[in-house]
Amino acid sequence: MSNLIFKTKETPVDFNAVETVIRESGIPNVGRASIREVVRMINIIEGKTGMKYVRMEMGIPGLPTPKIGVDAEIEAIKNGVNSKYPMLEGLPELKNEIARFVKLFLNHEVDPYGCVPTVGSLQGSMAAFITINNSCDDRDTTLFIDPGFPVHKLQLDVLGKKVESFDVYDYRGEKLRDKLESILSKGHVHSILFSNPNNPSWVCMTDMELKIIGEMANKYDVIILEDLAYFGMDFRKDYSKPGVEPYQPSVAKYTENVIHLISGSKMFSYPGPRLGMMVMSNKLQKLKRPALKRFYPTDLFGYSMIYGTIYALTAGASNSGQYGLCAILKAVNDGTYNYKDDVIEYGKKAEIMKKLFTDNGFNIVYDKDLGEPIADGFYFTIAYPGMSGDELLERLMFYGISAITLTTTRSERNEGLRACVSLVNRSQFPDLEARLKKFNEHYGN
Ligand SMILES: Cc1ncc(COP(=O)(O)O)c(C=O)c1O
Repeated sequence: MSNLIFKTKETPVDFNAVETVIRESGIPNVGRASIREVVRMINIIEGKTGMKYVRMEMGIPGLPTPKIGVDAEIEAIKNGVNSKYPMLEGLPELKNEIARFVKLFLNHEVDPYGCVPTVGSLQGSMAAFITINNSCDDRDTTLFIDPGFPVHKLQLDVLGKKVESFDVYDYRGEKLRDKLESILSKGHVHSILFSNPNNPSWVCMTDMELKIIGEMANKYDVIILEDLAYFGMDFRKDYSKPGVEPYQPSVAKYTENVIHLISGSKMFSYPGPRLGMMVMSNKLQKLKRPALKRFYPTDLFGYSMIYGTIYALTAGASNSGQYGLCAILKAVNDGTYNYKDDVIEYGKKAEIMKKLFTDNGFNIVYDKDLGEPIADGFYFTIAYPGMSGDELLERLMFYGISAITLTTTRSERNEGLRACVSLVNRSQFPDLEARLKKFNEHYGN
């Protein structure tokens, strides 16, 4: 445990209880604890002390699923769909709605063939990593524009595949071109993954940056995995109206070398059925790569992805869940349900919570998108002057506040923490304010 200056001071949560739980966890440095380890420790402290924490460590959705999705799934179950296997490539009506959605909200034309429901968007990334690696015998590395979602790296780690990354913080705007050029020109990278908006930093790539990424993808024949887990949640603009500008910014405007990974979990509050969407561009659907024949009966990229990799992984996604997602998507595409009306709550809470932190001596780590203040959304990043992220996380635990350090997301901003707003109830704001005030009294100058 680091040298805690508050040993003589009164902390909101009983000092000995927190210290004991940290010590007994056996984790030498709390700042390096995984999300699940933090969750476990806080659960134990809450149980021991009866204190309710302001819990910001886990990025799980905190809103009810739209009724239209729940009703459609129940109806499908009653109709007996769960007594049958789902179609491996997805329900035809769902594939059509996904293609419609991509046209209406990304302004990107795709054939429904390349629109595949997956078991969470995470299965989409896993399938993409496998198929892309199998399609190359001359290149072997996925590049991450970090910070990012640790599970993507875990996927490549368990596959035994190579990963390279850099922190976007130092390479915004035109600097991104030089950085990408310096890596891609070596010739070993076959794919790039980035998330927009970004988990954990909530950085949103500007159109200029997306253009740079797209141009680099064309120049070096690299496949972009554009992770849109937080689709439309840059609330500075309204991307939620079907078929009208502004569209969710996408690299697809500048390259056809793109696979979209879209999650139902956050945007449609639909994490339980584990349904995501993988969307291959028309070019990639038809792309031929001879190296694929080492693993699949064909050299066709799209076919190998669906009838090779997805088949081998799960042979399709939840049958009833697909009906639920299909109903939500249809309503969104028809303009009868606006998803933003629900998820905007995350942005509203973030605005208030960020102010509580900055009023009490904290600063926002990733604070700008090229001069423009960062959007309010699902996550924000915080630091406190003179403290490392590891120290800050540990100290905040004594004040009834939990988060994760940015270092666990491979950010180079080792002074920072990621805070997730989803599980914090508005009724906890007064507690949060009082705890932050006390923290600042104890540590401020
Ligand atoms: C950036 C990012 N990508 C992907 C995912 C995975 O989403 P899904 O629940 O659809 O697998 C998450 C989930 O938290 C995420 O934050």
